[in-house]
Amino acid sequence: MRASSSTSDRDARQGGTLTHEYRHEPVMLTEVLDALRLHEGSCVCDCTLGGAGHSIHMARAIGSEGLLIGIDQDDMALAAASARFEREAPNARIKLLKGNFGDLDELLCQAEVPGVDGILFDLGVSSPQLDIPGRGFSYHEDAPLDMRMDSGNNTLNAAEVINTYNEADLARILRVYGEEKYARQIARQIVRRRAEQPIRTTGELVEAIKAGIPASARRHGHHPARKSFQAIRIEVNHELDVLERGLDAAIRWLNPGGRVCVISYHSLEDRIVKHTFQERSRGCTCPPDIPVCVCGNVPVLKVITRKPLVASAEEVERNPRARSAKIRVAERL
Ligand SMILES: C[S@@+](CC[C@H](N)C(=O)[O-])C[C@H]1O[C@@H](n2cnc3c(N)ncnc32)[C@H](O)[C@@H]1O
Ligand SMILES: [Zn+2]
Repeated sequence: MRASSSTSDRDARQGGTLTHEYRHEPVMLTEVLDALRLHEGSCVCDCTLGGAGHSIHMARAIGSEGLLIGIDQDDMALAAASARFEREAPNARIKLLKGNFGDLDELLCQAEVPGVDGILFDLGVSSPQLDIPGRGFSYHEDAPLDMRMDSGNNTLNAAEVINTYNEADLARILRVYGEEKYARQIARQIVRRRAEQPIRTTGELVEAIKAGIPASARRHGHHPARKSFQAIRIEVNHELDVLERGLDAAIRWLNPGGRVCVISYHSLEDRIVKHTFQERSRGCTCPPDIPVCVCGNVPVLKVITRKPLVASAEEVERNPRARSAKIRVAERL
């Protein structure tokens, strides 16, 4: 799924580096701001800063007495966000940190704060990341197979996954991370094709994926490579493990009454958020036939959204990326 982006982004992306423009419309902005209930002087952490689409408004809500910590693993996003703060909120107190939110404990130690009042995760890639062909996230453009969100630190890329994983592992990844019905057939096509010559580009991968899906199933619905690309991106960036670690840390760092808000874009992420919130709000996990609690778990969260919030029809019309967005919110006890 792509967010709309204008052609004027082009000069901002020349050579893969960013100068001044980074267009990404923040998803469900009003809902996020309502959920976080920030006030003057709050300390807030945006774990997926991107182009500061949410953060710029969060910074306004907390005023110059507050502190906004913005984290992203992508240099381009950090540069864009920093420029935006300079332009639009020069008085905001901000600390922008490069890193993976899977390492949130270390990052918040680095920020030297005792705790935070609000934490946001807006998962996945941003529109500008999708739009740069050289990063290999998009099945619409032919580009080298990369898909790393942090190309400086992550050594695993999509080309390695596609050309070195065995057929069973490829099928498992496509099935589990992509929920792809034709996972086995696609994995077989990949392995057959790479035996002739390595699969080097997104275009070659799209051809292999299409060959694994029956023509009748390819004719309707989304792009045939959509689920497989999602799966490979999750594998390359260890996205689900990182989300679990990030959420656990976020809950530890929240001040009492502080809120964590997560925007997810596919069911695997949403399931992790839902289960984590449920588990941490339940406390004791002992079997019901045990007379006294032996696990010692106590509830640390209150779930604010029993059902996830979704975007209005009007927002989806304006910003297609919002179509699959789900927001879950929990409050630290
Ligand atoms: C959907 S975008 C966020 C957009 C932002 N909320 C806005 O409206 O401008 C997600 C951002 O999070 C970053 N990101 C994704 N996973 C991350 C991780 N594990 N650690 C740090 N940053 C991550 C991506 O590089 C991307 O810039
Ligand atoms: Zn117990």
